[in-house]
Amino acid sequence: MSIKDLRHLKQITSGRFGKIFEDTKNEEILYKIGAPEDREILRNQFFLLKSLDSPNFAKVYEWIENKEFCGYSIERIIWPQINIWGKDITREGGKKYEMVKSVLLNILDAIQYMHKKGVIHGDLKPSHIFVSKDGEIKIIDPGYDPDILTPAYAAPEALLGEVTESSDIYSIGIIFYEI
Ligand SMILES: Nc1ncnc2c1ncn2[C@@H]1O[C@H](COP(=O)(O)OP(=O)(O)OP(=O)(O)O)[C@@H](O)[C@H]1O
Ligand SMILES: [Mg+2]
Repeated sequence: MSIKDLRHLKQITSGRFGKIFEDTKNEEILYKIGAPEDREILRNQFFLLKSLDSPNFAKVYEWIENKEFCGYSIERIIWPQINIWGKDITREGGKKYEMVKSVLLNILDAIQYMHKKGVIHGDLKPSHIFVSKDGEIKIIDPGYDPDILTPAYAAPEALLGEVTESSDIYSIGIIFYEI
């Protein structure tokens, strides 16, 4: 990917650090692009995802940067975010709790794999977890930074700058409480 290929990008949304672009020539990838001051956060996300070789974490492809922006290409996940999925399955009657339990176990497996690799996610929240209709999951945006975490989902010790593996489990607890 070279900078000139960025002509085919179209912004679809944005977060706190960077904007999300689709590639009008390739519907399977997205680009997460930020300003030079977001470089450390984005680079950290990119390399953490690169180090996780599991279908439960989005694949990332290339790091790109010039003087004006930086970012990376990432697999486009077409499944709903976990909070939207949670709303949809309330219509499933008795199957709801079985489904929720199996998704919870899938997430815990993914987190266990990540922790064994020495990675703490640090920012688990609904916009970072996607769920398929069969209950498969994919996680994005790993990387702990006490200045950029999401207070509503962060464990108290993470807010105080002392994240541990348990802090990730705490965030999952909040997400599932909401579901
Ligand atoms: N690889 C991806 N596939 C599909 N959707 C994605 C992907 N990466 C990000 N998104 C979605 O794009 C939106 C913006 O993501 P982004 O990470 O920039 O912001 P956010 O997660 O909402 O907030 P924050 O900036 O705090 O991370 C979110 O709704 C996110 O779920
Ligand atoms: Mg995000």
